[in-house]
Amino acid sequence: MKRALVCGAGGFIGGHLVKRLKSEGYWVRGVDLKYNEYNNGNADEFIIGDLTDPIVCHQVVEGGFDEVYQLAADMGGAGYIFTGENDAAVMHNSALCNLNMLHAAQQAGVKKIFYSSSACMYPEYNQLDPENPKCSEESAYPAAPDSEYGWEKLFSERLYLTYQRNLGINVKIARFHNIFGPQGTWKGGREKAPAAICRKVIEAEDGGTIEIWGDGKQTRSFLYVDECVEGVRRLMESDFSGPVNIGSEEMISINDFAKLIAEISGKNITIKNIPGPEGVRGRNSDNALIQEKLGWAPSKSLRDGITKTYNWIAEQATKEVEIV
Ligand code: NAD
Ligand code: GDD
Repeated sequence: MKRALVCGAGGFIGGHLVKRLKSEGYWVRGVDLKYNEYNNGNADEFIIGDLTDPIVCHQVVEGGFDEVYQLAADMGGAGYIFTGENDAAVMHNSALCNLNMLHAAQQAGVKKIFYSSSACMYPEYNQLDPENPKCSEESAYPAAPDSEYGWEKLFSERLYLTYQRNLGINVKIARFHNIFGPQGTWKGGREKAPAAICRKVIEAEDGGTIEIWGDGKQTRSFLYVDECVEGVRRLMESDFSGPVNIGSEEMISINDFAKLIAEISGKNITIKNIPGPEGVRGRNSDNALIQEKLGWAPSKSLRDGITKTYNWIAEQATKEVEIV
């Protein structure tokens, strides 16, 4: 039986990944600062631990692992990473998780390690035109990410690649593009646009108004979590190291996205654009490389994924109201 360690298993993508690995017959140990409120039962073992501590990293990798998935990071949506207030925490915490966990895995003889980078590492100068953003993998340099979160991701990509070059550990790096789905953060300040807009629409009355940050003309693409996990597993099984985009090519403006969610809700909703943290003007995945190297690329429609997500958040919001 293959053994996998999932770092960040208490989080959104980590939780889905644990479930997927279990369905493939893996023995899985999860580690995080917190339990996963939805998928806890799926890991064979779950350790509460702080991966900024090198001792903890050496402990969690004990017992031998075929594969390590390093998803632990201090992260959030625009309201968390673009305000500037969390920059020191993001850089310090995420860099230490990566430095310590990669080192512990290499020392323990782990053969293969996955690292979750982000589209936030791409240069801002290629993402100024909302209709034509450029996010092909080779466009990463000259580097100019628009956030400290993106700079940390770029630094850590390079860190993993040095361990592969100098120390022989097999490294796999994906650049995720805005992943969404059930069991993702939907309130509290770290939620990304898909969950935040679903929540706002759910909370609004029929005929009501929701606030959208920016002029709403900024663009993004959003990838449903099942396809993200599929891409991660395919990358892990391939002989390609990356970095490679794992994202959707279905680009949409934020106002059109809000209109789509309003339509799914069946409510008549007015959009009010207000100032807020915005990030880059435009972003879209470029899937030429993943298609070439893995013979696969995400293909599911945004409407299907966001409908499932909307229904899940509506259920969570109803549960909260019942508890209160
Ligand atoms: P998430 O916040 O739900 O999960 C990250 C987990 O890491 C959290 O449960 C958190 O508690 C844990 N963590 C943070 N610091 C830790 C520490 N010191 N020790 C142990 N655990 C710690 O986020 P997610 O959406 O599941 O993202 C997973 C990974 O994918 C992250 O590295 C993130 O940067 C990357 N990523 C995500 C997206 C996205 O859209 N969700 C996009 C690009 C990259
Ligand atoms: N979060 C949020 N909440 N965003 C909103 C809202 C709102 O209520 N209203 C409008 N937006 C706009 C933001 O201003 C931004 O321009 C756009 O929606 C997308 O915001 P997010 O989904 O929060 O973040 P992002 O796409 O800029 O960055 C995300 O994706 C990266 C990878 O592509 C983040 O999750 C990053 O952490 C991630 O690495």
